[in-house]
Amino acid sequence: MTATTTATTTATTTETLDKELLSHLVLDFRQMAAFAEAPWVFVCGEGIRIQDSEGRWYLDGLSGVFVNSLGYGNERVLEAALAQLKQLHFAPPLHGTNPPSIALAERLRRVAPAAMRGEHGVSVKLLSGGSEATEAAMKIARQYWKQAGHPRKYKIVARYGAYHGATMGALSAGGGWERKSVFEPLVAGFLHHHPPQAFRSLFGKELDATACGIASATLVERTIEAEDPETIAAVIVEPISVSSAGYTVPPPAYYQLLREACDRHNVLLIYDEIITGFGRLGEWFGADYYGVAPDLLCCGKSMGGGYAPLAAVLIAGRVWQAFLGGVEERKEFHHGHTFGGNPVAAAVGAAAIDEIESRGLIAHARDQGAYLAGRLNGLRERYPELIADVRGAGLLQGFEFDPVRQPKASKPGKRFEALARERGLIARCGDEFVVFAPPLVTTRDELDEILDVTDACLQDLAAAPRP
Ligand SMILES: Cc1ncc(COP(=O)(O)O)c(C=O)c1O
Repeated sequence: MTATTTATTTATTTETLDKELLSHLVLDFRQMAAFAEAPWVFVCGEGIRIQDSEGRWYLDGLSGVFVNSLGYGNERVLEAALAQLKQLHFAPPLHGTNPPSIALAERLRRVAPAAMRGEHGVSVKLLSGGSEATEAAMKIARQYWKQAGHPRKYKIVARYGAYHGATMGALSAGGGWERKSVFEPLVAGFLHHHPPQAFRSLFGKELDATACGIASATLVERTIEAEDPETIAAVIVEPISVSSAGYTVPPPAYYQLLREACDRHNVLLIYDEIITGFGRLGEWFGADYYGVAPDLLCCGKSMGGGYAPLAAVLIAGRVWQAFLGGVEERKEFHHGHTFGGNPVAAAVGAAAIDEIESRGLIAHARDQGAYLAGRLNGLRERYPELIADVRGAGLLQGFEFDPVRQPKASKPGKRFEALARERGLIARCGDEFVVFAPPLVTTRDELDEILDVTDACLQDLAAAPRP
């Protein structure tokens, strides 16, 4: 690695870390007393690699956390950010907008799923994080129905196992008790249904993936009907979800049926594309991958490649029309955040889209994803006692451990995670699954490195006695 990066790292070695101070830093979902004893501090990055304060380099097989899709040190984005910082780093959000926000909105309107654009094109609400985006989308849905002549529509139907963010509304839509129950009571008006999960299916082994998707979509429609469709505002789903509560890749039939059910009952469909957007699936959005468009689309994470906090809600033209009118009508969206539409973040977002387009990164992700899936399937054949299922789309691919020979309680995914860390690889590991989401810029050689390390970790796991 370069001399500059080496110089940076020597400033923060583990010996110089103040453990007492570290225990006062509150990290996400982490026991800080334990963390302070074994801290992990990242100091610099280059390409698809990140270095910690011990001087160890890691292959970033997860793009940070589905964020760093352009790799560390992307020149185009860095230059755009620096130029904008010097030009105008903040603009008064209650009074107006700024050129980078306009440029970003123009690009988003162009890359938005075709079926969302309709006669008016999509409208864009710029924000700073995924939770802000899902909160805003659900509030748009509620306000929309009040202004579209259906004021009783307020309930949101979501999935068990989903994660839509940490704020109270987003958390209420989320479906994993592990992150929710300690904060109850949550926001009223949220209903949950079981996800279209063929592996470890609710329906046993009798249903294949498509049949399982059809059954799940049918259950969503039955829920809407049983609750009174005139009270349902929206259904929110992640096209493909990866959360601590599971890893779900629904079949295409599921989305077609969900769309039809929403249309039949006058319900808005919200896609949370905070993981799946911006090329991750080898298409701009999960909506393109599945060929089924939502009414509201939330994006975040990799939208700015991680160079600035950036998120957005894309709003189908027909929905946004209900928010236009005279000032005295009070139809404007009653919602805002200080840093939504920040000029530096918007400049980063526009540059990130330019980078994806000019380097053909969507098609690259599709090709690399097919290769990744192929090699993971090869590993499944080599380690049948470990891996039972490989699934994903584009550069979001993973595997699930055999539930009988590697029971969830023995946490094979967490054991894999520890081995991977030792061997210099970062991935997303649940108790029973491992998911990879390397940067879109990952080369074939780098992908091979990730897979070779994975192979070595699986070999270690196969050899180790189960705890
Ligand atoms: C699918 C999904 N939605 C929403 C969020 C929340 O995003 P943020 O952490 O940026 O608020 C996340 C974060 O992991 C996510 O994965």
